[in-house]
Amino acid sequence: MKADVLVLFGATGDLAKKKLFPALYDLEELGQLDMPVIGVASSKWTQEVFRNNVEAAIRARKSDADEDVLSKVRDEVQLIVGDYNNPETFVELAETIKGYKLPVIYLAIAPEFFATITKSLADVGITKRARVVVEKPFGRDLESAKALDAELKQLLPEEQIYRIDHYLGKEAVEDLLVFRFANTLFEPVWNRNYVSNIQITMAEDFGIDGRGKFYDGVGATRDVLQNHLLQVLTMLTMEPPTSMNSEDMQNEKIKVLSAIRDIKADDVVRGQFVGYLDEDGVAKNSDTETFVAMKLFIDNWRWAGVPIYLRTGKKMPETVLEVIVEFKQPPRALFGKAESNQVRFRLGKDDGVDISLQAKKPGTKLVSETVDLSVEFFTEFGDRQGPYERLLRAAMLGDHFRFTRIDAVLHSWAILEEILKRPHRCHPYFEGTWGPDEADDLIPGGWNPVGSEAEELKLSH
Ligand code: BG6
Repeated sequence: MKADVLVLFGATGDLAKKKLFPALYDLEELGQLDMPVIGVASSKWTQEVFRNNVEAAIRARKSDADEDVLSKVRDEVQLIVGDYNNPETFVELAETIKGYKLPVIYLAIAPEFFATITKSLADVGITKRARVVVEKPFGRDLESAKALDAELKQLLPEEQIYRIDHYLGKEAVEDLLVFRFANTLFEPVWNRNYVSNIQITMAEDFGIDGRGKFYDGVGATRDVLQNHLLQVLTMLTMEPPTSMNSEDMQNEKIKVLSAIRDIKADDVVRGQFVGYLDEDGVAKNSDTETFVAMKLFIDNWRWAGVPIYLRTGKKMPETVLEVIVEFKQPPRALFGKAESNQVRFRLGKDDGVDISLQAKKPGTKLVSETVDLSVEFFTEFGDRQGPYERLLRAAMLGDHFRFTRIDAVLHSWAILEEILKRPHRCHPYFEGTWGPDEADDLIPGGWNPVGSEAEELKLSH
């Protein structure tokens, strides 16, 4: 059943501004919003200021916004100014939405408020009929995630909880499944017999953008590796689900996550960009990592022995989200020493796939040279849906397919347990580099080029 009202906690915050309002615009444009949006926040804004801010947030992301659609969104939003610790706020909310049957409550706020807010929602009777969407990170380690789950479960059953990881809403991330399971060409070689290693990079050329207070208590491992990167890894390595229904999909994910060997601190390199300690909201002696790279193994039949490398960092040379699956060399180098075949999935901006192959180099000698088969999804398909648009729609429709089930969340914390509890110290790195040098030593021969370096290499082939 479709929800009939959307309640947005954290409506004056960064996530709402950058992602949620533009996504609501997209839904409105498709005629799929069609419900009031009640913001709740502590900023003491008037309705007019709130609407102006919503409009500005949309215009900032959509230079060609349609004026009619914009004014519909303006008409649909309203703000409740309140305090998350004050029961009065929830009484007012309950009163405002009493005529609606099925609210979606989106908690776009710091995780420490999830349980208290849900409890207050329960106190005024809203949770009986609501779907509650919680942002990541869900907890800050295995123990706190279990505790948060226990608190929420007293108030809500699993079916009413929607745990967001917006990477699960990215079309290019879903394409990993389609690429693997809809192309007979690749699936037979997608295993330890043919794959030599896998490298996943999520790099950002910006820093913490004024989020010091939040980020310093979290760090790269909790902010994106435990969730976004492990989700990408799961899509890349899971077995085919029996069907595309939510339970079958979640069950397969759990299998592969539970086969990941617990990660040891010696296989992890943590880094902190020089200048981080001067950021607002960051403790002067902070050891929080803004970069993390690690090696891991999946101890199952398909992947045993294949090293998998993950890295993510702020203030890197560029913003890229890429996966490289590198294949083994043929048994005999008949045509000279060649680079190995690889598939490079570009999952961020300008998404697409590049497959590096060997072809005969022109000339008298029978030697090979690398050539690339490339596809740009934008050129093929045009604009596609944004992750928050897709996830908001799914929550409104009650579809769990693109949300994380609690057992998956707990498994992903369990894998990281040791390195969160006993991490090695951070190494400093300079802005505009790929992190500390120690991260290069994780991979024999270093990381394969990604982003513009890989593009340049492609052109030179
Ligand atoms: C968020 C993290 O979940 O994902 C941010 O909190 C990060 O630190 C962001 O910048 C990246 O998302 P995307 O979709 O731009 O890759």
